[in-house]
Amino acid sequence: MTWADLKAAARKSESAKIADLLKDPDRANEFSISAGDLLFDYSKTTINEETRSILVELFESAGVPAKRAAMFGGQKINETENRAVLHTALRNLSGEPVMVDGQDVMPDVLGTLERMSAFSEAVRDGTFKGQGGAITDVVNIGIGGSDLGPAMATLALAPYHDGPKCHYVSNVDGAHIADVLRHLNPETTLVVVASKTFTTIETMTNAATARAWMGEQVANPASQFAALSSATDKTAAFGISEDRVFGFEDWVGGRYSMWGPIGLPVMIAIGSQAFRSFLAGGEAMDRHFQAASPLENIPVMLALVGIWHNQGCGHATRAVLPYEQRLSRFPAYLQQMEMESNGKSVRLDGSTLDIESGPIVWGEPGTNGQHAFYQLIHQGTRVVPCEFMVGAEGHEPELAHQHQLLVANCLAQSEALMRGRSLEEARNMQSAKFEGDELELQARHRVFPGNRPSTTLVYPKLTPFVLGQLIALYEHRVFVEGTILGINSYDQWGVELGKELAVALEPMVAGDIDPNEKDGSTVQLIRHIQKHRA
Ligand code: F6P
Repeated sequence: MTWADLKAAARKSESAKIADLLKDPDRANEFSISAGDLLFDYSKTTINEETRSILVELFESAGVPAKRAAMFGGQKINETENRAVLHTALRNLSGEPVMVDGQDVMPDVLGTLERMSAFSEAVRDGTFKGQGGAITDVVNIGIGGSDLGPAMATLALAPYHDGPKCHYVSNVDGAHIADVLRHLNPETTLVVVASKTFTTIETMTNAATARAWMGEQVANPASQFAALSSATDKTAAFGISEDRVFGFEDWVGGRYSMWGPIGLPVMIAIGSQAFRSFLAGGEAMDRHFQAASPLENIPVMLALVGIWHNQGCGHATRAVLPYEQRLSRFPAYLQQMEMESNGKSVRLDGSTLDIESGPIVWGEPGTNGQHAFYQLIHQGTRVVPCEFMVGAEGHEPELAHQHQLLVANCLAQSEALMRGRSLEEARNMQSAKFEGDELELQARHRVFPGNRPSTTLVYPKLTPFVLGQLIALYEHRVFVEGTILGINSYDQWGVELGKELAVALEPMVAGDIDPNEKDGSTVQLIRHIQKHRA
């Protein structure tokens, strides 16, 4: 099965009408997967039995099942960094051995989980104190994978948050840390420095700022710092005592790391039991992903729908539209997970990727998005496949009527995208107000092309367990798509060049080095900024 076969199938399907496909009373059920209490419905796409078979053949011929076994088995599938890819071990609560280089990693993983639990419970119950008493606020300093996951999860699990307040500082813009610290009491604040490498310039700069801020009032500021990192030599150099350092191995990629020490602020927020429930959700999805046949496998079919829309039909972006307000940072989290993983144009064997790389992922929670960018999704010239997500139940029983409205909005959008509105329908709607040419004109503006694809994922209620399922689902989707493309989803060389140039540019911006060796545009920008700052 080749990309040309997929593209040919996509061209053939261009005339297919999703609304017509759905006249088949079995379609909704046949193009959906129920797994546990999740329902993934991809029946509002143009995928039919024939194209689904092509997609499953692509999955098989790309060797995804063998690669999946290799990943879970601790083989070094991150070939460009010569590393295993084992974030799944962090949620392997069963403790079944996972071998890397002949060593079972599980005793260390579970040992670290125990230490994290003990520390977070001590912070929560006030046994661990700051100079001014029990910890009231936790400031997580990290960026990318050391920020997006925990920040997203803290918002997502707000109903379970009964620990100290959690704040997240990521941007090197001093405004970010200034705005957070301004409201806090250093004597009751715990600063968590989260960095896999412990070299990331944004994080180390913010960590130094936080230490100076704390040092103004706290006699031993380092005693109110913890570190989450795989570079434990560097955490010691920063002055953080070993008992507050939570390490992880290089086989945990930054954007896949929230299941381990990087999740510490979430654990402090919701407690170690609830955090284990989050891990259990991820573990349940791992089992489903490994055991279910492709057609019954949600991550596999989510990936194949993605391949269909992006590489098959040529739709360059995908919108992820969680209706739950508490998932407001989920699209941003997925942007890193998907685009840092699959935004690559060289295959593992060094050849150039001969098909589009992973799509541009974006989104916002509904219903806000409906009043912002949905206009383009409904009537713009580009097709944007939409991935709706909604919970069957909210956490506010007293506001159940609002939840019903939320669900109705979500379902209405996928229906509207699919059905559209014909010129005739638009004419009929407007005929009481307009006539003749004016009626025609007014009607034309009210036409919706329809036939716009979407999928809907329904989960029962956004508990820690369900959040774990959702994140692991998307992780495995990225794995399947990346494997089919033949790329390495676990390195990120594309972020390095800008970092190197920023280091070289900083003294030029400061005025210590003449920027003249740079291109004309960069020199002009530096000169303008220098002229306009105080
Ligand atoms: O620059 C990209 C990146 O390396 C991400 O992959 C990572 O999540 C982020 O920076 C932060 O890295 P670290 O955890 O090492 O500070």
